[in-house]
Amino acid sequence: MKVKLASSYGFCFGVKRAIEIAEKYENSATMGPLIHNQNEIDRLKNDYNVGLYNNLTDVKPNDTVIIRTHGIPKNDLKDLRKKDAKVINATCPFVTTPQQIVKKMSAEKYSILIFGDEDHPEVKGVKSYGEDQDDVHVVLDIDELKNINFKYDKIATVAQTTKKKETYLEIVNNLILKNKEVRVFNTICDATFENQDAARELSKEVDVMVVIGGKNSSNTKQLHSICVENCIDSYLIENAKELDSTWFKNKHLCGITAGASTPDWIIQQVVNEIEKY
Ligand code: F3S
Repeated sequence: MKVKLASSYGFCFGVKRAIEIAEKYENSATMGPLIHNQNEIDRLKNDYNVGLYNNLTDVKPNDTVIIRTHGIPKNDLKDLRKKDAKVINATCPFVTTPQQIVKKMSAEKYSILIFGDEDHPEVKGVKSYGEDQDDVHVVLDIDELKNINFKYDKIATVAQTTKKKETYLEIVNNLILKNKEVRVFNTICDATFENQDAARELSKEVDVMVVIGGKNSSNTKQLHSICVENCIDSYLIENAKELDSTWFKNKHLCGITAGASTPDWIIQQVVNEIEKY
């Protein structure tokens, strides 16, 4: 089986940065999973003894606490700073940006709309920066806009960093028809675009596609859905153990891409395995 890698895939700047921070602070622990990739979290635990707090009450004085790439809610950060612990912020700077925009625009009396997944830790964190929590709204598509009553006729919008720009445009277009002022901030991360564009191109030319990444990673799932549009035989796996030889029967060229939290060593193991078929 021949293998072709997407022209852009895998670790993004924010994840690389967070991992470097974690490697620097041995014997620390992270507030929430550092990144959405269990294999890499296990490696950091084994090689650097980087643990995990499930909640704030687990933090003891003198602990070193690393804040994950997706950030944490404003009040959690405040409470953490009150404890006698050393706080290291590994929030991706591209996630800090929408947090600051929401803070600033809600202070200027704009209603806030976040395009994203309400349950995603990044969105929970960004939302928490709104001054009036009843006027910070989260939607996944234009249909959900119908149920929203904005307090003001001035709206500011941000997007979860890993969301599709096409859907964001639809939402924004819809908003401008009904409101006096819409301030649109493009907070979707370029790293996601690059990996998505490369996956789209590659999935058009191969006859089987393997997407490697965490099953709970939003950007990995998105890569998979883009690949399925062009190549029906697209599979999402977390590591080489999940490969199934029947996927490659009568196929010649396998495309590979990986989510923004997938380490190179996992990608290499998958490539080596597929090349054996
Ligand atoms: Fe940051 Fe973008 Fe990665 S938001 S964590 S650089 S996908």
